[in-house]
Amino acid sequence: MKLGKPLIKELDNFRLLAKTEVANSKLMSKVTETLLYLGSRSHAIRLGHGLLVKDLPRHHVLSDRRILVVVDAKLKRLAKQLVRQLGSRCVGMALLSGGEKTKNLSTLPKLYEAAAKARLDRESVVIAMGGGVLGDVAGFFAATYLRGIRIVHVPTTLVAQVDSAIGGKTGVNLPVGKNLVGAFHQPSLVFVDPAILRTLSERQFRSGLAEVIKYGVISDPQLFKRLEARMDRILSRDPKELSWVIHRCCAIKAKVVSRDEHETSGLRAILNFGHTIGHGIEAAAHYELLHGEAIALGMIGAVDLSQKLLKLSKVAAERIKTLIEKAGLPTRLNARYKDAQILNAMKLDKKVSKGKIRFVLAQRIGSVKTGIPVSEEQVREVLAHLRA
Ligand code: GLY
Repeated sequence: MKLGKPLIKELDNFRLLAKTEVANSKLMSKVTETLLYLGSRSHAIRLGHGLLVKDLPRHHVLSDRRILVVVDAKLKRLAKQLVRQLGSRCVGMALLSGGEKTKNLSTLPKLYEAAAKARLDRESVVIAMGGGVLGDVAGFFAATYLRGIRIVHVPTTLVAQVDSAIGGKTGVNLPVGKNLVGAFHQPSLVFVDPAILRTLSERQFRSGLAEVIKYGVISDPQLFKRLEARMDRILSRDPKELSWVIHRCCAIKAKVVSRDEHETSGLRAILNFGHTIGHGIEAAAHYELLHGEAIALGMIGAVDLSQKLLKLSKVAAERIKTLIEKAGLPTRLNARYKDAQILNAMKLDKKVSKGKIRFVLAQRIGSVKTGIPVSEEQVREVLAHLRA
């Protein structure tokens, strides 16, 4: 039997999810789907705990196609199981390292050559299996090979499962800055298997929780409350809890991207909560901090600014900071990371327009405002407070 429900059913399912009532534990024992509705580029985000190898090869998106698997070298074993199930449809496998160094233009010729050798055509599919870096670079490769071929994302880190694999942003870094070359290229399917997260290091896993907390702050007070109440279960990677939380985050991201795919109306920008200062810190720390660790600090900075500029209540601010702490994420900025470096990196970021640093700030838990101008002086005050 080929999997994949008719579009109309998926849409109903999406509406249901948009109302967010997915806390049925039975639902989590099988595959669930969220539709990212984008007209002809609509696609599903399938989630099945421990079901990747069984479910994905049967999906209609992969039927009768030539498939190239691009995979993080660390996941070679899991990839081989998948390749066995794909059988003769799999015509090649390219191994990449998942580190930030892979995310540059010099990785692309290796992928273009693998695609040519495997004789991929316009009907072929790339399966990208790995974390955020791998997904971004494989996504850009798929967006440009033969002017665009299909891609299926199999995100294998928490950050990638709740954020980077969803929404079609692809790209690579240049020496002068991150993500400066890229394209929007929507996948044909995203397959999320939270069981893969078992192999993540504790630090990597906790780093992903920063993006999860972000979703609670920007649009979902219920999710936020659940994180407050059940952080212990999440940290122990309880399958049901993890599936519920990831599913909820995917539904929020799908809803945002379906309404503002190219970040033109400003809605998609809400996903950047904590990322303005966060990206500055990440660059100033020369990537000693993981993405989520820098974003956690960026969120604390954004919370301080929200109290000053949007009258975010002290109680809400404390709840956000406490949750970040409970997730085992950093809440203090190391004095080695200097204002000048952080501010310089922030100014290179796409979030700066017409010389003003624009922030996403919180009005309350579950609601944010975008485009709030903040002066350099105010950023310096926040950074000093983060170091105190
Ligand atoms: N990670 C932010 C976005 O996809 O827009």
